[in-house]
Amino acid sequence: MAIQELTIRTPDDWHLHLRDDALLQETVPATSRCFERAIIMPNLTPPVTTAAKAEAYRQRILAAIPAGQRFEPLMTLYLTDQTSAQDIADAKVAGVVAAKLYPAGATTNSSAAVNSLERLDPVFAALAEAGMPLLVHGEVTDAEIDIFDREKVFIDRHLSRIVAEHPQLKVVFEHITTADAVEFVQQGPERLAATLTPQHLLMNRNDLLVGGIRPHNYCLPILKRATHQQALLDAVASGSSKFFLGTDSAPHSQSSKESSCGCAGCYSAWSALELYAQIFDNLGVLDKLEAFASEHGANFYGLPLNESRLTLVRESWTVPERIQLPQGESMVPFYAGREVQWKLKQPS
Ligand code: DOR
Ligand code: ZN
Repeated sequence: MAIQELTIRTPDDWHLHLRDDALLQETVPATSRCFERAIIMPNLTPPVTTAAKAEAYRQRILAAIPAGQRFEPLMTLYLTDQTSAQDIADAKVAGVVAAKLYPAGATTNSSAAVNSLERLDPVFAALAEAGMPLLVHGEVTDAEIDIFDREKVFIDRHLSRIVAEHPQLKVVFEHITTADAVEFVQQGPERLAATLTPQHLLMNRNDLLVGGIRPHNYCLPILKRATHQQALLDAVASGSSKFFLGTDSAPHSQSSKESSCGCAGCYSAWSALELYAQIFDNLGVLDKLEAFASEHGANFYGLPLNESRLTLVRESWTVPERIQLPQGESMVPFYAGREVQWKLKQPS
């Protein structure tokens, strides 16, 4: 008989957008319900470019943790053309754990980010020196490059060089979407790893475009063809420690998604862990979920494993169609209105 309950070490989310201010009241509990730590993306407006800004943001996140819950935000620095080696050293002292590289214009709130990757070599050297991973949004932004090819071109033009020229630098290739990225990570050194999102494992570009445009499945990097999705599934099913959980849960209001120029991002925090369980179950590798969700990432970052445990049960439930925010806005969560086969067991 199929396994009905699965108890695992409490997971961490190695790629998460919480946003700021009032929205933290929604996003922090939605993640802390099942993740003990998370890597907090710094693409706020204005972005988190200094140690002081990271610490102030961390305090705002801590203030939104529900009573009785444990959650540790792991802060990151947003790289710009002006970031210096000293900024990295200061961030290290302040407890910032990593730096995020967005090519300017690649995605939400990235206009202030990096225009010239070549100029960042001293910053990469400082990260390597500090033992801080470089987290990469791996897409070129050149207008002439097709949106479906942008990840592969980024590997060829930039990421292969960065990894080769900085032999001590840890690199996380974030939210990978292609067979090319899987192969690049598999063949690279131990210090190169990748995060995988629920949407890129569960869906392909048909889920975005067939039968009408589905704005709630629009994220960046964009969903790719089914052969790439299969390569991502094979990667997680392999059990390789180079691949770990990063939801890229990214809240946007319903009105900004359902628009003539809709925002990129899937707000998956309400169902992400359960959907990963479903994905691993469907692959017949439920036994590999715990390492993917709760061990590989911490080991890569050099952090201790969580001591606590949580339990998932095989029980069908439906993701809500809509989440009402106190400010009057609503959000449509990822997988809205659809059934999920696994459920988080509430502590009794
Ligand atoms: O779809 C995305 N949304 N991709 C990103 O890289 C950023 C994120 C966001 O911040 O909304
Ligand atoms: Zn992201």
